[in-house]
Amino acid sequence: MQVEGKQYRTVWLEGSTLHLINQPMIPHRFQVVTMARYNDTAKAITDMVVRGAGAIGATGALGMAQAVLQAPDEGFHEFIAKAANVLRGTRPTAQNLFYGISKVLDAVQEAGDNIPDARKAARAAAQDVADDDAENCRAIGQNGLPLFHHGIRVSTHCNAGWLAFVDWGSALSPVYAAHRAGLTPHVWVDETRPRLQGARLTAWELAQEGVSHQVVADNASGYLMRNGQVDLVIVGSDRIAANGDVANKIGTYTSALAAKANGIPFFVAAPTTTIDPDCPSGDSIPIEIRTQDEVRYVWGWSDDGRFTRVRITPDASPGHNPAFDVTPASLISGIITEKGIIEATTRAVTSVARS
Ligand code: MRU
Repeated sequence: MQVEGKQYRTVWLEGSTLHLINQPMIPHRFQVVTMARYNDTAKAITDMVVRGAGAIGATGALGMAQAVLQAPDEGFHEFIAKAANVLRGTRPTAQNLFYGISKVLDAVQEAGDNIPDARKAARAAAQDVADDDAENCRAIGQNGLPLFHHGIRVSTHCNAGWLAFVDWGSALSPVYAAHRAGLTPHVWVDETRPRLQGARLTAWELAQEGVSHQVVADNASGYLMRNGQVDLVIVGSDRIAANGDVANKIGTYTSALAAKANGIPFFVAAPTTTIDPDCPSGDSIPIEIRTQDEVRYVWGWSDDGRFTRVRITPDASPGHNPAFDVTPASLISGIITEKGIIEATTRAVTSVARS
């Protein structure tokens, strides 16, 4: 997608240096940061300098490739195994992270004992993960487009736009396709506490693209649905279980319940790389619990130009911060993938994951 007239992806490798859009700075500053070694890349994932299912997946793959490029000839495979563990330990919920890392490890294994070949194969495999993510998301946009009509009002939660992937996004890709087709969609953007990915990132993306939108407090979405102001809900996903249950940003389940109660179609948009066929249901999806400080403080720019945090809770009040929830398949109208729209059923999900 374009930022001030220049084409960007969220993550890319030059030599063995990884480049990332620094997401916590958006919308206040647009900044690209570099990670020289795979451990720096791992820390960037943990600290959410890069976040979002597909973006984490591509960063995990490219970080793994960095490790393969940096591994010494002596102890090559041990170095790589350790790096894989470090990268896998950065975020527990997003399936794409594990997918991206495993694609690079498979390529290294296929190269056998020839180290220069292994380095070449790792770089190519990581680049494929990133390129496929961008292409899958573009296709999700086209496949979701028939759900749109002129003037449609769409509610979304968190950021499943291009910043959350390598390009285009999942939930926002059909919105961009509809906008470019002249259907003038309007997007209700849930602000998405506690890290405000909706208010900060989705709103910024939509503004860059010129899509009509308004940011609402998370607690307003049920009100809007009941008032007849929402025609369609589309969200992304961090992991889809084999039975069609979907893990996504905390608050998604609440939105799905409100949509069901009001007869509003609730769609999930995700590439098939987000499906975890080994995970039987949402009960088995690991849910990341992040620091309570994300609930107790908010970050922003002070009037004197500092990026700083302020506390909003009483000093003595602890917080609790589950980062994701699970929406049961029964609340989901369909899953928009790069292969088409499928039902949230075991049969449809497992067959699309295999094809
Ligand atoms: O914690 P994050 O920001 O990495 O959360 C992941 C997400 O971006 C959302 O859950 C999103 O809706 C899923 S699709 C990228």
